[in-house]
Amino acid sequence: MATSRILVVDDETLMREYVQEALERAGHEVDSVGGGQAGIEQLQRETYDLVVTDLKMAPVDGLGLLRWLRGEQPDTPCIIMTAYGTIETAVSALKEGADDYILKPFAPDELEVAVTRALERERLTRENRYLRAELNQYYDFESMVGESEAMQEVYGQVKKVADSRATILVRGESGTGKELVARAIHYSGARRDRPFIKVNCAALSAGLLESELFGHEKGSFTGAHERKIGRFELADGGTLLLDEVSEISTELQPKLLRALQEREFDRVGGTSPIQVDTRIICTSNRDLERAVEENTLREDLFFRLNVIPIRLPPLRERRDDIPALMDYFVKRYAQENGRDIAGFTPEARALFLEYAWPGNVRELQNAIERAVVLASERMLGVEHFNLDSGRPQRSAGDLVSVPLGTTVAAMERELILKTLSRCKDNRTHAAKMLGISVRTLRNKLKEYFG
Ligand SMILES: Nc1ncnc2c1ncn2[C@@H]1O[C@H](COP(=O)(O)OP(=O)(O)OP(=O)(O)O)[C@@H](O)[C@H]1O
Ligand SMILES: [Mg+2]
Repeated sequence: MATSRILVVDDETLMREYVQEALERAGHEVDSVGGGQAGIEQLQRETYDLVVTDLKMAPVDGLGLLRWLRGEQPDTPCIIMTAYGTIETAVSALKEGADDYILKPFAPDELEVAVTRALERERLTRENRYLRAELNQYYDFESMVGESEAMQEVYGQVKKVADSRATILVRGESGTGKELVARAIHYSGARRDRPFIKVNCAALSAGLLESELFGHEKGSFTGAHERKIGRFELADGGTLLLDEVSEISTELQPKLLRALQEREFDRVGGTSPIQVDTRIICTSNRDLERAVEENTLREDLFFRLNVIPIRLPPLRERRDDIPALMDYFVKRYAQENGRDIAGFTPEARALFLEYAWPGNVRELQNAIERAVVLASERMLGVEHFNLDSGRPQRSAGDLVSVPLGTTVAAMERELILKTLSRCKDNRTHAAKMLGISVRTLRNKLKEYFG
């Protein structure tokens, strides 16, 4: 456990010193004061991770301090120390929001157990609250755009599985919206008020991934200075997204399999198994059948993951969705950047419909964001998009074809004419597309056309 700052409040000097010493020996940083009022004043001056207070004090007792704390610093946990015979007061303290109570007299160990538990619970709520607040902002069902038949089918599947606990495998090329679907499943189901936690399996080494997923006990390996709660446990009651699941090392795969099958796992260095009710969603853009053949993915794990497969089609297989996506993103980014953009030219719309979109929705989204930021016009035209010309299949109208034997000058003339007509005679745009300055363009026009 990292050093925590603890405030001890007790009017009995001996007791106060005993508690302070015990906590300091356990490695905490401790201040102590002799009454409820002094406690409040101290809490206004300094911040603490935890308050340990006696109940019976005058004029402000432990309950008074607790009420103040819940009003002013609701996230700071509080443990009540209480003497035999005052259990009822301890119970009312719990009702007022105390995290725990401890009966006097107590051994230092007992105190430390209560302290560790309170601190850990506080950390968990804080982490979950943070993660939830962050995620809820952007991702709900409504943020999915596209009404093509293929997507309708996906929405249908999402609705069907949202409330179930079965493992779900979302497959599709990069940028097709796998993570978005995972979030839609979580936030449209019964688990929506519980955490949605994501782990990118490709980003961590095998050892780190294990402790990230399952947690570890203090001292289980060099550098494990405190107990760590794994993501499986953080997502208890909610959903755990295992991104790029095929990247999990073969040594870790049996442990994942057990966690999926038994809903049970061990922390690294832990001695008793931990039970959780965590629903798993996996994503992958890899050919998993091939990974099984190549022995990088265990077959039993693959079957276990593939209970409910959802396949997201690449954008080029559902071009019907392109116009809706264009309108959605242009509106969103114009608003975000405070730009007055009316939409796309017909040529830009045609280009978007023809382009192959190897990076799928993400590529389309990025292209539009960039164009919105850079454009100075109200309409986005083809010149605002730098779509890799090797990949798009442009229409014949976009080609300049000249027979062999044409002079360079004649070819240049033809190219300039075509570009200008595409840019509706806007010389600035045409020059940009041609990669020359407006002045050069003007000179060439003079040269060729007088
Ligand atoms: N149907 C959709 N409607 C709106 N936005 C979408 C849609 N599909 C994807 N996006 C957006 O495209 C981007 C990529 O989506 P996401 O991260 O879900 O893709 P992915 O399949 O997980 O990609 P990768 O395999 O690269 O991780 C995100 O910004 C997401 O919001
Ligand atoms: Mg993803």
